[in-house]
Amino acid sequence: MCGIFAVINDKKNNASQTIIEGLKKLEYRGYDSWGIAVKTKNKLVVEKHIGKIGNAQTFLPLSNIGIGHTRWATHGGVFDKNAHPHLDCNNQFAVIHNGIVENYLEIKEKLIKKNHKFLSETDTEIIAHMIEEELKNKDYSIDDLAKKVFKSFKKLAGSNAVGILDAKTETIIACRNGSPLVFGFDEKNNQYFLSSDIPALLKHTKNVYFLNDNEAVVLNKNFFQVYDLIKEIPKKINFEKINLKSSSAEKEGYPHFLIKEIDEQKKTILKTAEKNIFLIEKSLKYFKKAKKIIFIGCGTAYHCALLAKYLFAKNGFESDAYQANEFSAFSNLINKKTLIIAISQSGETADTILAVKSAKNKDAKIISIINNRGSTLERISDFFVPIYTGPEIAVVSTKAFTSQLIITYLLAKSLNFKQKEGLKNIKKLSKELNKWLNQSLKNKIIDLAKKLLKENHFYIIGKDLNYPASLEFALKIKETAYTHAEAFASGELKHGVIALIEKNTPCFVLASNDEHKNDIISSATEIKARNGKIFGIAPFESKIFDFFIQTPDIKELTIIPNIIIGQLLGYYLGIGKGADPDKPRNLAKSVTVK
Ligand code: M6R
Repeated sequence: MCGIFAVINDKKNNASQTIIEGLKKLEYRGYDSWGIAVKTKNKLVVEKHIGKIGNAQTFLPLSNIGIGHTRWATHGGVFDKNAHPHLDCNNQFAVIHNGIVENYLEIKEKLIKKNHKFLSETDTEIIAHMIEEELKNKDYSIDDLAKKVFKSFKKLAGSNAVGILDAKTETIIACRNGSPLVFGFDEKNNQYFLSSDIPALLKHTKNVYFLNDNEAVVLNKNFFQVYDLIKEIPKKINFEKINLKSSSAEKEGYPHFLIKEIDEQKKTILKTAEKNIFLIEKSLKYFKKAKKIIFIGCGTAYHCALLAKYLFAKNGFESDAYQANEFSAFSNLINKKTLIIAISQSGETADTILAVKSAKNKDAKIISIINNRGSTLERISDFFVPIYTGPEIAVVSTKAFTSQLIITYLLAKSLNFKQKEGLKNIKKLSKELNKWLNQSLKNKIIDLAKKLLKENHFYIIGKDLNYPASLEFALKIKETAYTHAEAFASGELKHGVIALIEKNTPCFVLASNDEHKNDIISSATEIKARNGKIFGIAPFESKIFDFFIQTPDIKELTIIPNIIIGQLLGYYLGIGKGADPDKPRNLAKSVTVK
């Protein structure tokens, strides 16, 4: 996944400055390298750098038009030469790209035979040369350019979003098929923007159009025009007004987005529930018609899917939960009576989208639970529930996860005619979080992180709802602190896992005040008998715990504070290890490639 940003008619005639600021907002999408191209009086000028954009500055010449990119490497290592924008042989067309061109090798071979010289190992570079080849020796208009760009784009296999800056006509053309692209229009200053996501646009305009698959937009200083890429005809569009403050994409005094977003859960959980009661009611008809209910997602979203399966079972409804990337193994079981609930923060995760598309081919109905409005998943779903948490910028998911979980909880309660009780519990959870998630808790976790900083392996156990909760707890530690953390169902211990326990091996025990409490304490006792060290995360104390962090007792929802401890511990361990909590190594916020 990568970030695309472009501007035309920059009001300060300083496009590179506007672009670098935009890229900084998109950096969560990829942070291996970055680059910018602007058009000066005579030519395209490009700069490229490896590493995070962080506090970087740009000194490109003044210009009112340019494109920029922040990269998450797929084809070609992390070198300056592989950073975008990429140029054709004559430095006429600059290209930025998000996605994978699956057939790039065969196209590249043909272009090489026609004497095109390639400077990078990327799939992206072929696009610049394809357009060059199409327009070779031609005196072209913007219309001609658009036709050739559309023609070239349609030859690309895979999910892609592309932006092209043409030096001659001073035009930017962007095409979308599978990867997100938003067009922003600042009417007051006649500025046009392109961005992979909303946060980078908020400072400039709230007036946006989410390009659909197979749409393109042509931007020139005098006009803009959206096109249907298949028919190659102009399209009338309506802009949407984005209801988000630009501060929602800022750290607002916090040292990192991650800790800001962990704290925000004090508000977001209740907001998600209250704003969605109507939609939840409306969605119930899909559940009533379904013979089979399946939750899917990847990573944290899959943990939410698994928790949903437990929550549904508790309310008397059978369902299944699959990692979207393993869905193909079960797709033969899908039919028109299947309801898929796809969970995704970004709504752009390729594995989830592919699974949804394959289920749609079998006439299954799709409900999605998403954060990013206008996403691909939203568009291909029969019904969607937006979680309204505002932008989640840290790569590690926290507030989006707990809000997605709250939706599945409310769905289960509503289907079981217990919506009021569910809402009451959510209000109690929110109230408790407001008291409990404070500096004194954070200080306690900081102390714990200091004690655990040198440990290489953590084990986490839980039973029932606390088992999927343990999986999510472990993922937070792995992603943010780069420490091996493995979660097990506590009952599995004796079946093999217990062989891993040595003297002082740190074992976290996640528990709630429920009927499984004694079972989990027994499992902890078995670990203790092998000299493991027990860190209890629960609403109740036990003499078996060597270290205890009390979480509020909110029945089934106790899993949320239990998981928040994992979010906080991951954050403080990561800081202690000198990691960047907002941009963990090797990760990208949404994985838009297979
Ligand atoms: O955007 P999505 O929710 O579809 O993303 C799915 C996973 O890639 C994501 O949850 C990932 O596991 C996060 N890094 C978790 O913190």
